[in-house]
Formats: sequence, C-alpha cells, structure tokens
Amino acid sequence: MNDELRELYQQVILDHSRKPRNHGEITEGAVHVHGDNPSCGDEIDLYVKFAADGKIEDIKFSGSGCAISQASASMMTLKVKGKPRADAESLSQDFRTIVTGEGTVKNEDALGELQLLEGVQHFPQRVKCAMLGWRALEQAIQMRAAGGSEGTTSSED
Ligand code: FES
Repeated sequence: MNDELRELYQQVILDHSRKPRNHGEITEGAVHVHGDNPSCGDEIDLYVKFAADGKIEDIKFSGSGCAISQASASMMTLKVKGKPRADAESLSQDFRTIVTGEGTVKNEDALGELQLLEGVQHFPQRVKCAMLGWRALEQAIQMRAAGGSEGTTSSED
C-alpha cells in the first residue's frame, strides 16, 4: 500500500469507527443476529429488515469492537441498504475475497471504498475483525430465507 492509500485507509477507518453509520437497533420486524469474535471478545448486534421482495429495507448495528470491525460494519450498512438480497450476498463474497486474498473478485466496482480494507489480508487476526459484521449479515440473509428471526454467529465457526 503506498503512502497516499495508507493515509486514505486510516482516514476512512477512523471516520467510520468514530461516527458509525446506521448505528442503533431496529426493534420491530427485523432479523437480529448476535455475532462475536471469541479471540478478543468483541461483539456485534445486527438488525436487518427485509422488504417483502427480499430487499434490505433497513439495517442497523450496535455492539463494541475494534476500529476495523466497527468501520467495516458501518461501511457494510451503507453498501447493502436498499439492495436486493442477492446483491448483498455477492458483495459479501467479494469482500471476503479481498480481505482473505483468496479467490477472485466478481464485481470490483460494487466494492468501492471497501477495497481500502484489502491490506487486512496480511494480518490474519484482522480478517476476523473485518468480517464480524459481514458474517452477521450472511447469517441474517440465511435466516430470512429460512424464516427465522434470531440467530448467532461466531468467528470460530
Ligand atoms: Fe476484536 Fe477486532 S480486535 S473484532
């Protein structure tokens, strides 16, 4: 990562971790997933409200965690809000690809500034941080498909 990119990375992570977007809870009609990272104890509660056609109508998160986990979750909510379930799933797969460095990204444009988190692949422990919110999102999407509304996910799964 060159100096300019590193600076941008730091600015974006700091901005989102200090002022997380879509922070809070959805108390009615949402799928709720509690996710944790047992290696550090950080947690996330993700609330996803799906429209009748499966689109992500609203999404919020709360919990406590490191800057990367909070920033990644915040950026995720901005990206997937209003998107069809299939788009959110494919974005999640592409995000996993860039943070693990394994596989091929299908839609680079859709990732946008999420690509700044690519450097995480050099720090295996940080992959769990970056994926905390996304794993909860994947779980919420699976639960919606199965008709459930409460679930948990753990990075050790
Ligand atoms: Fe716990 Fe990052 S150190 S999620």
